[in-house]
Amino acid sequence: MKFVQSSIRSVALILSAMILSSNQSAANKSDLKPVNLRTEYKINPVVDAAKPRLSWELTSAIRGQVQTAYQIMVASSPNLLATDTPDLWNSTKLASNATNQIEYAGKLLPSRTVCYWKVRSWDKYDQAGPWSAIAGWEMGLLNKSDWKAEWIGNDLRALGKGKIYHLPPAPFFRREAQFKATVKRARLYVTSLGLYEFQINGKRVGTDYFTPGWTDYNKRVYYQTYDVTADVKIGKNALGAIVAEGWYAGYLGYALLVGNPVVKNFYGDVPLLKAQLEVEYTNGEKETIATDQTWKTNHGPVLEADLLNGETYNANLEFANWSKVGYADSNWKNSTIYPDKSGRKIEAYPGYPIQVFQELKSKTVTPKSGGKYLFDLGQNFAGNVRLKVKGNKGDTITLKYGEVLFPNGEIMTENLRKARATDTYILKGDKQGETWTPKFTYHGFQYVEVAGFRTVPGLDAITGIVLTSATPETGSFETDNKLINKLYQNIVWTQRSNYVDVPTDCPQRDERLGWTGDAQAYIQSATFNTDISAFFTKWLVDLNDAQRADKSYPIYAPAPNVRKTDTYSPGWSEAGIICPYTIYKTYGDTRVIREFWPNMVAYLRFMEAKSKGEYVYKEASFEDISPKGGFGDWLSVGKKTPPDMLATMYYAYVASMMAEMANAIDKQEESTYYHGIFNKIKQAFLAHYTEETGKFKTNSAAYGDGGGYVDGQMGFDGHTQTAYANAIYMHMLKPDQNQKAGDWLVELIKANNNKLSTGFLGVKPLLPSLSSTGHSDEAYKLLLSTEYPSWGFEVVNGANTIWERWNSYIKGKGFENNAGMNSFNHYAFGAVNEWLFGNAAGLKVGEAGYRTFTIKPEIANEGLNYVNATYRSINGKIESSWKKAGKTVTLKITVPVNTVATVFIPTTNPASVVESAKEVKSNPAIKVKEFKDGYLYVEIGSGTYQFMSQN
Ligand code: BGC
Repeated sequence: MKFVQSSIRSVALILSAMILSSNQSAANKSDLKPVNLRTEYKINPVVDAAKPRLSWELTSAIRGQVQTAYQIMVASSPNLLATDTPDLWNSTKLASNATNQIEYAGKLLPSRTVCYWKVRSWDKYDQAGPWSAIAGWEMGLLNKSDWKAEWIGNDLRALGKGKIYHLPPAPFFRREAQFKATVKRARLYVTSLGLYEFQINGKRVGTDYFTPGWTDYNKRVYYQTYDVTADVKIGKNALGAIVAEGWYAGYLGYALLVGNPVVKNFYGDVPLLKAQLEVEYTNGEKETIATDQTWKTNHGPVLEADLLNGETYNANLEFANWSKVGYADSNWKNSTIYPDKSGRKIEAYPGYPIQVFQELKSKTVTPKSGGKYLFDLGQNFAGNVRLKVKGNKGDTITLKYGEVLFPNGEIMTENLRKARATDTYILKGDKQGETWTPKFTYHGFQYVEVAGFRTVPGLDAITGIVLTSATPETGSFETDNKLINKLYQNIVWTQRSNYVDVPTDCPQRDERLGWTGDAQAYIQSATFNTDISAFFTKWLVDLNDAQRADKSYPIYAPAPNVRKTDTYSPGWSEAGIICPYTIYKTYGDTRVIREFWPNMVAYLRFMEAKSKGEYVYKEASFEDISPKGGFGDWLSVGKKTPPDMLATMYYAYVASMMAEMANAIDKQEESTYYHGIFNKIKQAFLAHYTEETGKFKTNSAAYGDGGGYVDGQMGFDGHTQTAYANAIYMHMLKPDQNQKAGDWLVELIKANNNKLSTGFLGVKPLLPSLSSTGHSDEAYKLLLSTEYPSWGFEVVNGANTIWERWNSYIKGKGFENNAGMNSFNHYAFGAVNEWLFGNAAGLKVGEAGYRTFTIKPEIANEGLNYVNATYRSINGKIESSWKKAGKTVTLKITVPVNTVATVFIPTTNPASVVESAKEVKSNPAIKVKEFKDGYLYVEIGSGTYQFMSQN
């Protein structure tokens, strides 16, 4: 990826300057200009989609500007683009307002083709704007036969056997290659079963971590492509790689904790490497250096390397200059070739790589008993540290990681459970000092307790290295209320810590699984903070690869089955529908729908069969899974909402999404069918779970003493906050009933001392449902509360991330549940972000991909006077900001080019509404729609607007 980025970018800069000057002389009639060109959601990537999808944003200084046509040119060289003679594709002028998800429709693109592209747009007056700058993409290795490289390994399983853990050393591989002429172009295609770090001539290739990422390695493995033209030279070159067990052969999840018969090696026993360096000389000749048995292998300083358990490095065993030319490897042995698994696909990595987000300086270092030192990095996060130390040969530094401290100041590690999360460095005694960062592990932590320093360490002895999947930032959210601002920052940090190749539950303890329930509850929230398109493009493959034989979606994906009884669960499995739906709505992506349609249909059939044709799950319908009924409203407070009731609502909810998605891919009949299913479920649900008054009920006797159910001993009740919140959110009720449900919700909150009681499934819809039934004030009260349970309670108790439990830590009291489950970095309760953007700032998507959207800010009566939210949609930056001063409300709204927003201006007096001090009625850029329920509706096209209204 990097490669195209650097090479094409520099070309593009020169060319765009040329094009700009030629355009200026041609005098463009329009200022409409395409920017931020992307291919398959990424800037200048390597892809293996036969028809990569192109997208751009548009800029223009003119209000209400739209694109009426576009022209794309794709060429195999920038020169051909500059002369407007593209050899791969010329779309010619196409009448269309589409600016994204546009499939390449030119010549067939063989493996390795480098494509350069540009685009121009015509505006609302049918005037052409200037050409964009040039962007590019490159085709990967499209056929298995493009691969000359073998899987090679070095079986070290006999080593590293400890009492609890079996952690063999990481093998090193190397070979040298002679290049007989000047190299014009060099590409490294590399992957591993396990994790790899590749080096050329002593230098690390790329900046990505934990490559090639986690997949179901029985079905597919991804490879990375690097432009290494600048790293190789005529004459001798050295190639090297270190390979660790990673997700492929290392420890996963809580397998060890629960006594699963398998605790590691879920996909294979020996980590393997597969790499080929392809060079093209200036004379056009080509050469490929590929992994085979001639690669020399040995094991050395990396004594242990495990994602959950940590890394051990003995610097005395280093192979100095091992990846440079001339290293004497005569005592290294030959590699072993391993056969490929038939049916295993090898594909270009579709996601964003894991990279360093930021470095964190230690805030404090405190001496502890036993000569230890405690470093505080000031923020809970996922990643590693860089250790800087001076000492004697053989000195051993041990690093232990914790998220929080006990009230007495000691580091808390009980919540890591069986994740050892310990790194060890053995010094070689370099007089200049030594620095070290682990390569194949990461931890979830804020504090590091370090043992083994010979002298008092300075703050720079430990630096935090924040790792995350590099999803580009899209959002910001700011208010004049410190508590809310902190809450938002905590949400962002928690997403950053858990979007690590797969959407994990938590980064610290022995889990880090792609829990589907957490993923579905949080995905909409995530879209506002960063661009998750490519991240989910990747994980949706994992999720569908993990679809079970009975067609249910699993509780986590990838699904190595870390506990024998792990199967599926209502509220979790529906991620298989909810996540693709959200990607469709957010980015206008219909490819994900088409790709997984058969899987989704099969899942809906599974659910239908499970309802025995009744379209409702009556009490105790899911006694066959563990826990009974599934996880339900996990970690809620008080009586449990019956899991079967929630399962029925989820069934209806995903049926309605199926109807909408079917429509999006022109399957009208199926759309009608799923609408029908949705209505049937609704009816059956209401018939079974409501009293005559419309109040929810349940037959709790059906659950017996609750044994086998999550918190079953608390008893079950249909009349709960979670039940009404979900019913409203999922459109389960008739209009009059809906309003009543909102009122009950408020009543239940009041009866609960004005506190929420929701868990994982209730928290997301809670505030949105209050808002949609006219109880915005109640929503704000819950948001601003600092009493247990609430978001604010976490903040006032010192949180800088979102906690798994509402009371993970209480100042002065400490912890409960540590050894069981007490993560301090769990995003599910962060799903309130959906309300912050969607209601407080009022931004909701209309037509898929934010082609249209609404902005309906909810002005707080108390607690805050100002909200500013920005969101960079696939069409460009949207801004929604409001300020309240006395009776005046000011809205600042930005609408991207080529989109239309309906803005709901809060006012008691529609005549008082002005835009930039002028009345709105006579403004041609503003279509005044109607005045209703305290809002004046207006429709606006692109531009920035400042509305003022009296209340
Ligand atoms: C995980 C969750 C997950 C849950 C299932 C936990 O151990 O951390 O976030 O969804 O199990 O209920």
